[in-house]
Amino acid sequence: MASTVDSNIFSSVPALQSNLGILSPDQIELAKILLENGQSHLFQQWPQLGVDDKQKLDFFDQIARLNSSYPGGLAAYIKTAKELLADSKLGKNPYDGFSPSVPSGENLTFGNENFIEMENRGVVEARNAAFVLVAGGLGERLGYNGIKVALPRETTTGICFLQHYIESILALQEASNKIASDGSQRDIPFIIMTSDDTHSRTLELLESNSYFGMKPTQVHLLKQEKVACLDDNDARLALDPHNKYSIQTKPHGHGDVHSLLYSSGLLHKWLDAGLKWVLFFQDTNGLLFNAIPASLGVSATKQYHVNSLAVPRKAKEAIGGITKLTHVDGRSMVINVEYNQLDPLLRASGFPDGDVNCETGFSPFPGNINQLILDLGPYKDELQKTGGAIKEFVNPKYKDSTKTAFKSSTRLECMMQDYPKTLPPTARVGFTVMDIWLAYAPVKNNPEDAAKVPKGNPYHSATSGEMAIYRANSLILQKAGVKVEEPVKQVLNGQEVEVWSRITWKPKWGMIFSDIKKKVSGNCEVSQRSTMAIKGRNVFIEDLSLDGALIVDSIDDAEVKLGGLIKNNGWTMESVDYKDTSVPEEIRIRGFRFNKVEQLEKYFTQPGKFSVED
Ligand code: UTP
Repeated sequence: MASTVDSNIFSSVPALQSNLGILSPDQIELAKILLENGQSHLFQQWPQLGVDDKQKLDFFDQIARLNSSYPGGLAAYIKTAKELLADSKLGKNPYDGFSPSVPSGENLTFGNENFIEMENRGVVEARNAAFVLVAGGLGERLGYNGIKVALPRETTTGICFLQHYIESILALQEASNKIASDGSQRDIPFIIMTSDDTHSRTLELLESNSYFGMKPTQVHLLKQEKVACLDDNDARLALDPHNKYSIQTKPHGHGDVHSLLYSSGLLHKWLDAGLKWVLFFQDTNGLLFNAIPASLGVSATKQYHVNSLAVPRKAKEAIGGITKLTHVDGRSMVINVEYNQLDPLLRASGFPDGDVNCETGFSPFPGNINQLILDLGPYKDELQKTGGAIKEFVNPKYKDSTKTAFKSSTRLECMMQDYPKTLPPTARVGFTVMDIWLAYAPVKNNPEDAAKVPKGNPYHSATSGEMAIYRANSLILQKAGVKVEEPVKQVLNGQEVEVWSRITWKPKWGMIFSDIKKKVSGNCEVSQRSTMAIKGRNVFIEDLSLDGALIVDSIDDAEVKLGGLIKNNGWTMESVDYKDTSVPEEIRIRGFRFNKVEQLEKYFTQPGKFSVED
């Protein structure tokens, strides 16, 4: 054991040397790595052999985890940290030598011929895709006590984000399998990246709801580990102030998803099974699946290796811009550049006005919404080279301008969307722009912070997230020919929002616009005070005039026609103060709840043809 080890390295750290006898050969190797990388301070307070031995072994268990969960191990982590901390101290600009230009991509307009064509192509491709949800984030800004994916996406049905995502994937799977050229049936894999903060509650949510109808074998949870915190510019690992046998750790960011997918072996499995695409998405964007089929169609048509979903972005708006960067040495990449870096970068590169709107009224650099579609083959090849490591950054908060000490420990972080940074110039990296109302309404901010958002900027709150769903569904139905009354403005939890008719439907009712159009005919109208929840598949809206609340659920073999005048007292919206703790948190963070005064509620549990009229 200890005698077989190079004793020189340990002799300078007597506190460790005297404890070598309790360590396994693997642990001694880890100790060597630590010492060789300037971490002897970790052992300074270790007592002699025989005291706290169990805690010392626990310490090495943690070191082993930190070492194995990082590509290249702790030595690589510390080396990168030293380099990035040195750059940060020097105030080095990561974009030095790069000049920005507008990358090429696809702009889609909801409902036109091209959009419909892309959606149809996307449905063909859906069975060749795997879906990856990154859901390891703490959600500190939202401050919700549960996990974010368990929050209702909207409160008309109360269906949570995770259920909606699963039902959307299943609806796509079914539609795609139905038109498979070889007639084969495939289950779309669904991966959820969790963390210690979200893992057990995510698993429990799935298990207690029978995986919301998905086969449990289709779902894989990959848990990301935290990374070690750093105390100073020498990248000395930070000990927990309350436990000298424990390293402080913090989340490493959603970029971990790439190394986890690589090390899970799933990519090879998927390639062998004939899959072609990997789609990455985030925990609380209730509109995302409105954008998935068409953007998958764009990926397939344009043969994009990387396709970033984007929305029109006003110049200087606080959302990262998708940008092509070309280096003086010839390298180039298409990546997300944070808005506070884009404007100075443009000014420094011969654009004296910086980021300005073009003739479309928007910045030519579209807004990144962090949903990616990758071509599986090139993705696997690239990860084979990098091990899934993503370019990291460090953001220390310095005590003073000497930049020698930190206010609190820092750590390296990485972002999912930085994946293209290491790609060769031959990689086909593009984007798909869609209207914000259709594609993007994340729930990230608590009511108090949302109410402080400067006018004109998005709230990204539970209130705005829910209202965005009603607006999108209303606009989609309008486009399909339904007269949906215009919205009213209302202030909820201090945020002024547009309140449209509360229209919701299950994904299996309509995943793409051409399906929705087929289900709407004649002269239909829905008043602003109305609520309509369609939970069945074969529900047709024909000459319907709705002024009240209507809930319809039906089995697949029941064909239901909704028509005629349906009028009742409906559901009213009552304001709720987010500080009122007598109201459940899921509700009060929205600033309203429904008073279900009167509704027409119909269930069809037998096959056949039916019609609903008041
Ligand atoms: P957010 O930017 O919303 O961060 O993450 P967050 O950590 O969830 O929330 P704040 O910043 O504390 O308020 C974007 C997406 O990335 C996931 C989140 O779950 C969300 O889907 N994420 C974030 C991870 O999976 N892991 C991480 O380490 C961080």
